[in-house]
Amino acid sequence: MTPPDEIRHIPTRLIGRTIHVYREVTSTNDIVAEAARTINGLGVLADHQTQGRGQHGRIWSNHQPNDSILLSIGIHPPPAILRPVILTAWAAVAISDAIYELIGLQCKIKWPNDLLIHGKKVCGILIEQSNAVVLGLGLNLNQTRDQFDELDLSRATSLGIESGQVIDRPEALDSILMHLDDEYDRLLNGELVPLESDWKWRIGLLGRQVHVEKRDGTSSFGRLTELSFDGLQLVCENQREETILPELVHHIVPLSATLTME
Ligand code: BTN
Repeated sequence: MTPPDEIRHIPTRLIGRTIHVYREVTSTNDIVAEAARTINGLGVLADHQTQGRGQHGRIWSNHQPNDSILLSIGIHPPPAILRPVILTAWAAVAISDAIYELIGLQCKIKWPNDLLIHGKKVCGILIEQSNAVVLGLGLNLNQTRDQFDELDLSRATSLGIESGQVIDRPEALDSILMHLDDEYDRLLNGELVPLESDWKWRIGLLGRQVHVEKRDGTSSFGRLTELSFDGLQLVCENQREETILPELVHHIVPLSATLTME
């Protein structure tokens, strides 16, 4: 294992209490997976990744070191919360709360775990499981509109663009770790309901006609009448009701947006 360039300690209960900081790594998710075997809650932060990855095998890259936060956390959740939907909601809601604290704007969650401000993506989340559960997040801080346009990323945004402020990276990092830690502590104490309702609110599709694309390649259409960690409830044609486990859902697309491929 390559030794970190710096080790930081943050006064949290668990999440990010120790952070290994690197100038450059392949992927922070890979580095943390190795080290988190023995350290629960370890964070790995990097200025650059040479093989940063996103969902569905996409590449995740950054340019300047203070452009973004490239962070991974390795955890060993107890069985009661060891479910992709719960851990995804944990990360998405806690990071959204940190963003609200930093710039006073609310994020929407685009299923399963993209964070959007004004319809544009500000943070990507990738949860993987190996030696530990690894939460990887890439949060756009100070990129400009021109930089995104040059990269043909017209649907990306940064906290700086949305707030008109220069975002301080250490402050943003602290806020994210504090919120992840508080929310994780609530989960460890069995408090899932507040997380579930915040997650549901941020997804914002209740009552809408939606197209649910499932991981097995099939899909369903209907009105979304409930969204919980236990399942999505749809009222389909002829009032037929369907319940779908969240883990089986690939995408949920509001029907009015399917025409424009939002
Ligand atoms: C996505 O939206 O597709 C998820 C992007 C996740 C990117 C982060 S950056 C830090 C961590 N290390 C990686 O290789 N990926 C995640």
